[in-house]
Amino acid sequence: MQTILFSSTDPSTPENAAQIIRRGGLVAIPTETVYGLGADACNVDAVRKIFLAKGRPQDNPLIIHIAEPRELTRYCHDIPDFAWRLAEAFWPGPLTMVLPVNDCIPRETTANHDTVAVRCPASEVTRALIRASGVPIAAPSANLSGKPSTTSAQHVLNDYGTDGKIDAIIDGGECSVGVESTIVDLTETPPRLLRPGGITPEQLREVLGDLTIDKAVVSQISSDAVVRAPGMKYKHYAPSAEVVIIEGSREAASRYIHRHFVPGEAVLCFEEELPYYEGLFATAYGCEEDPRTLSAGIFAALRRLDTPEITKIYARCPTGGGVNYAVQNRLKKAAGFHTLNAEEAE
Ligand code: TXA
Ligand code: MG
Repeated sequence: MQTILFSSTDPSTPENAAQIIRRGGLVAIPTETVYGLGADACNVDAVRKIFLAKGRPQDNPLIIHIAEPRELTRYCHDIPDFAWRLAEAFWPGPLTMVLPVNDCIPRETTANHDTVAVRCPASEVTRALIRASGVPIAAPSANLSGKPSTTSAQHVLNDYGTDGKIDAIIDGGECSVGVESTIVDLTETPPRLLRPGGITPEQLREVLGDLTIDKAVVSQISSDAVVRAPGMKYKHYAPSAEVVIIEGSREAASRYIHRHFVPGEAVLCFEEELPYYEGLFATAYGCEEDPRTLSAGIFAALRRLDTPEITKIYARCPTGGGVNYAVQNRLKKAAGFHTLNAEEAE
């Protein structure tokens, strides 16, 4: 069987793709963050197919996607007031809330947790698909487990091919945010940030006042540790080459990289830095001056560098808050938190 490629601009796409969801198939869906690998969140067999297709560890729960914020009450209970304030401020959009789960969501979807992660995405075609399906859609990022996330339909095709490993892909163009949603656990007070993303900690604090940052956001967690967001402990977002983050000024970083670079290695840097790496194999993922271009470009760049010929990647990482906080998190995870300060190394 061939994988069907739907266009997001074809008015019949939501209904056609919904037929696949209703009969338990897998549809890759565009969202503003990354492409997801979607299936009926209430159909145990369909959910199992997601885990199989991705090669995802069984203990890693899925996010369910809803079309309207008010649907939260169908799938969750004990919804605190600040959940509604967050929904009002950021939905539809790149925010996921973790809340106590209702019985209608099977244990396979939540990986036996007593909570469920819920998101109302901004993509119109995906919300139309959810409405047409009549069920919430469970969707992890569509990449094969451990690989950089998919931010275009082509990335999804690269991972799964066209021979029916998944039933369909809705091509909605390139994802505008480019990193996965921000995840906040609302089952404790103050709420806890489990994964930084398109909604920044500063934006969350404006609505919530206080926010705890989970330790998995800022440090490497061992694979046998008990963590709030199981996905955060796995090696993640990584191309096959070793990634090392080179900190320090532009000049110091470029001196260090030029001194150590050998053929087969690559530099991942900001547009502004490309002139420093003439003669080396260097690729830019966005402009340091415009952080949204960095989040939008990071996964495509990591994928470009995910070839067997590349043995090591020297990566430049943005500093500070805002969406840069999410970019730092993804790059540090890709590097297994391996960072080196070029100024100290001189
Ligand atoms: O932007 C996104 O969130 C994308 C798009 C497709 O919506 N989805 C996504 O899914 O990134 P995934 O599966 O790649 O990441 C979901 C993360 C994992 O780290 C998982 O452990 C965590 O959410 N998660 C899911 N359910 C949870 C729960 N009940 N409690 C804590 N963490 C949860
Ligand atoms: Mg993922």
